[in-house]
Amino acid sequence: MTISRFPIEKLQSLSTPFYYYDMELLRSTIKAVRQQAQEPNLHVHYALKACVAPPVLQQMAKSGFGADCVSGGEVDAALKAGIPPEKIVFAGVAKADWEIRLALERNIYCFNVESLPELENINLLAGETGKRARVALRINPNVDAHTHRYITTGLQEDKFGIAMQDMLPAVKRCVALPNIDFIGLHFHIGSQITDMNPYKELCLRINELVNQVEISGIRVDYINVGGGLGVDYEEPDQHAIPDFRSYFDIFRRYLHVRTDQQVHFELGRSLVAQMGSLMTRVLYIKQGVDKQFCIIDAGMTELIRPALYHAFHKIENLSAITATEELYDVVGPICESSDVFLTHYRMPATRRGDLLAIRTAGAYGETMASGYNLRRLPGHVTSDELNKNI
Ligand code: LLP
Repeated sequence: MTISRFPIEKLQSLSTPFYYYDMELLRSTIKAVRQQAQEPNLHVHYALKACVAPPVLQQMAKSGFGADCVSGGEVDAALKAGIPPEKIVFAGVAKADWEIRLALERNIYCFNVESLPELENINLLAGETGKRARVALRINPNVDAHTHRYITTGLQEDKFGIAMQDMLPAVKRCVALPNIDFIGLHFHIGSQITDMNPYKELCLRINELVNQVEISGIRVDYINVGGGLGVDYEEPDQHAIPDFRSYFDIFRRYLHVRTDQQVHFELGRSLVAQMGSLMTRVLYIKQGVDKQFCIIDAGMTELIRPALYHAFHKIENLSAITATEELYDVVGPICESSDVFLTHYRMPATRRGDLLAIRTAGAYGETMASGYNLRRLPGHVTSDELNKNI
């Protein structure tokens, strides 16, 4: 068992549910990325949507990572954490006028644009503000990421990006617009990708598309390959740090890049998933007809991934006093049948009041929490704060 990485005594005294972030693990993960992406033309942006806890953002800023933002709120949070505007990219299926104005005023590095109407609007608003907007077009590469349907984004029928056949006219429109500087192309094929083949396919597709643009006489200086590297939800301690070497090697090997071309990555989950656990207590053990329910004080309101994607999150009982195991359906207290974390799950015999850690919850956990049932948002505590005894 590997529960020793949790400062159990300190966590015991806090009221649940809340997120616990292991900052040491975050720092080791960041270090591993930096070791694998040392070339000066490789740029890593942290995808804020995964986790926006201020200590996490500040750590990203300190490490020199840029930010991948998808809302005005995220642009603000990145700046506030100390990520400089020239390292911020702003993506998203559709950006509202106030968000575009905010990004222009703050002089962010570029907009990743997903449709022609949005491009025209950015040009208009840039003109009004007296600015020029750097733009990359998000192209849908029609590469299957072989991941969950809800987090696949690069197939032809997905709502994301501009279709490949519409790329050249869109690039030409960028070049023709007076307040737009076209800098390059953006891609993202999906999330929780554990097989490297889709990335190889993506590289080959990008090579073709960049070539098409450049033979039409337009330079592509910026290539953004998106994010999506997966993590091990089954064995979080054995694979606490994802295999960044294999990931970056694929791009080194298959992406044709001139030394004056900049390659950007947007990593979210792989940076923060393993450092986070949702801490929760057992409210009741209830005997059903054929099973027993372990009802906890966290629900889909704190961590929606199991309800939304049937995602597996390992659960550890940090208070267990016996090795004798029993089968449980671990469920939340919310009035929804889908508020279930795990079924037929083997755990040490569990009692009311036990402290559980729902693992690999640092990414898309706290950021997707809701106030449904008028529940309080969970909040977080970091290992650094606990070490300082705050
Ligand atoms: N870039 C773009 C354009 C994206 O849409 C995303 C994620 C990322 C980067 C970061 O991807 P990551 O490295 O984290 O895989 N809520 C879902 C995941 C949604 C991902 C949305 N886009 C989940 O809980 O699995």
